[in-house]
Amino acid sequence: MLDEQKLAEKIIVALDVDNEEDAYMLVSQLSSTITFYKIGLKLFVSCGPRIITGLKKFGVRVFLDLKFHDIPNTVASAARVAVSYGVDMFNIHLSGGREMILRTVEAAEKKSVQMGIPCPQIVGVTVLTSFNQKNLQEEAGVQRSLIDHVLHLAQMARECGLNGIVASPREAQVVRKEIGDDFIIVTPGVRPLWAASGDQQRIMTPRRALQEGASYLVIGRPIIEHPSPREAAEKIVAEIGG
Ligand code: C5P
Repeated sequence: MLDEQKLAEKIIVALDVDNEEDAYMLVSQLSSTITFYKIGLKLFVSCGPRIITGLKKFGVRVFLDLKFHDIPNTVASAARVAVSYGVDMFNIHLSGGREMILRTVEAAEKKSVQMGIPCPQIVGVTVLTSFNQKNLQEEAGVQRSLIDHVLHLAQMARECGLNGIVASPREAQVVRKEIGDDFIIVTPGVRPLWAASGDQQRIMTPRRALQEGASYLVIGRPIIEHPSPREAAEKIVAEIGG
């Protein structure tokens, strides 16, 4: 039982729904199994920051997935506000560069100390899981191979004091090997065998992603679009446990 609980703590459910009511309904259905939830762009644009405080009332952990990417001063200011709402994790785009990352870490740490609260975990987005080698090169203009680019960004994240990265599960093993154990790897693009892949390009099963070194699995549609989200979550936990 304890093992299942520990495994369930590795799942972050993406609350990609339209409104607060649907988000709270999902959390009520899932909270006996899942304790970590992600607020993405759609929900945040629809509800504003009250969705963060609303979710925190359920006693769950909150990952604010707004993928900040702007000039250093703007991202550092947004980070201070995210800290003030008590999020447990938030993310920034590593392609924003060193100064943006360093200023964000500094601002978040300073704000947490001022408020006397733990600093949220800050993770950097490497390459979105909807990208592949071809569009990374042709559209984003990156000449390195996809894996080399992910490693380059992960190394920079570590050097700048981030807690970890967001990457495809396909890159988790190499990053884990190169960057070490004390580094969070959050992997979206995770699909149990019975679920559709949707727009995700570089997918892997939850069990395999953890074996490859992922620390947290972000799972959206396979759970939230299932006729019984709770059943889907329990099935995934059981599958992970083997
Ligand atoms: O429904 P699905 O399981 O594909 O949801 C994955 C979630 O992870 C979505 O909220 C998506 O925005 C997010 N995400 C991603 N790729 C990244 C970072 C975040 O798919 N690199």
